[in-house]
Amino acid sequence: MSDSARHITECRVCGRQNWQQVASYGMVPLANALLEEAESYDDEPRYPLGVVSCRFCRLMSLTHVVDPAVLYRDYLYVTPDSRSMAWHMRRVVELCRRRFNVARDSFVLEIGSNTGLQLDLFRQQGMRTLGVDPARNIARVANDNGIETWPEFFSAEVGGAVRRRFGQPKLILGRHVFAHIDDIAGVAAGVRELLSLDGVFAIEVPYALELLEKTAFDTIYHEHLSYFTVGTLRTFFDRHGMRVLDVEPTEVHGGSVLVFVGHRGGPWRTRAVVDEICEQEERAALHDDETYRRFARDVERVRTELGALVRELVAEGNRVAGYGAPAKGNTLLNLCGLDGAQLEFCSDTTPLKQGKVLPGTHVPVRSPEYAEDHAPDYYLLLAWNYARDILAKESAFLSGGGRFIVPIPRPAIVPGSGLPGAVEAGLPEAGAAFRRIARL
Ligand code: TYD
Ligand code: ZN
Repeated sequence: MSDSARHITECRVCGRQNWQQVASYGMVPLANALLEEAESYDDEPRYPLGVVSCRFCRLMSLTHVVDPAVLYRDYLYVTPDSRSMAWHMRRVVELCRRRFNVARDSFVLEIGSNTGLQLDLFRQQGMRTLGVDPARNIARVANDNGIETWPEFFSAEVGGAVRRRFGQPKLILGRHVFAHIDDIAGVAAGVRELLSLDGVFAIEVPYALELLEKTAFDTIYHEHLSYFTVGTLRTFFDRHGMRVLDVEPTEVHGGSVLVFVGHRGGPWRTRAVVDEICEQEERAALHDDETYRRFARDVERVRTELGALVRELVAEGNRVAGYGAPAKGNTLLNLCGLDGAQLEFCSDTTPLKQGKVLPGTHVPVRSPEYAEDHAPDYYLLLAWNYARDILAKESAFLSGGGRFIVPIPRPAIVPGSGLPGAVEAGLPEAGAAFRRIARL
């Protein structure tokens, strides 16, 4: 069933049609389409999942675009209220205030604002805020919490309505939403119309070099249409009359970049770090087809090794469960051929996910309380981007002899040797390219 998936033609960044085929993973269910428990899952929808790389601008893109109404109108993803995420969101507010003078009485618009956690922090600082988020169920939660949110996909038209009601924003924020949008040209046009001349458009996207270096193939799913480098974003905004002004590497989702964009004729200087990062990227062989062929081979290796490791642990009589039910976990399980035969359940803190089963693999999702009463021998750490939060939280599980299987960048068991410091070994670290740009 793929009638609502469109095969891409030209590149959404540079407009060309010169794709390198990187990988094709067949028909895969949507990563956030958790199901009610049922007797049979015969008509579960699946869509083609494949990756290509543009030989001109090196955008990595999915081969197919699923209708956004199918993906987002009723959505299960709720920004987790974790310590590291709260810290990051406060940092976003600080960066916007300090670097771009987003003052207390400014108007801040967030695209893809989810339940409004980030906007609430701006509000606490005295800013006027508006959220725009297409998930009707999630926008309702935000509105109930007093964070005004329009249940819409952002577009030039919605931008016009925002302008008429609230005036021009000083800051438009799009955290982990730009990579989800097919018509980024339309969004850029809407932002250019709406943003004040001295305003800033701040987007956060997973960093493509991290995907490549960490073999983080689980972050490839139908919602993530684009995998950007800073250079690719610069090419894009140059085409749309805007400029990349600054870049800030962040730890979110296992390695992201916060990219600040302004009007071409605006007052802000471009910081030297932007050129430096683009030069680093040029040196990382991103224009070499072999880089993407190697990535595809690395993915195959992790798929084989992780599948074998988990099956072996189960064959030895160990009980295994998943830790977290993130979207990326569903790519991981589906592509590694792991399901209810190996995983008893997945524990997840999101009430909307509990009681449902995972797409494709039909592993049941349970609450952390259930998980505590049914602790397995091994947790497969599906939410590996929160490894540090989770290991700190699960000290009782660890001291009782429990272990984590960390899937990325290579399957590892933590703690390994039981030696002091061993818990740290095997955790997904930032890749070399990310560390280099973080030092700039
Ligand atoms: P997230 O990493 O935000 O990503 P994605 O869906 O984009 O892959 O999802 C993390 C999931 O893990 C989310 O469903 C909440 C869950 N979670 C826990 O169950 N326990 C925890 O301690 C944390 C930090 C997250
Ligand atoms: Zn391109």
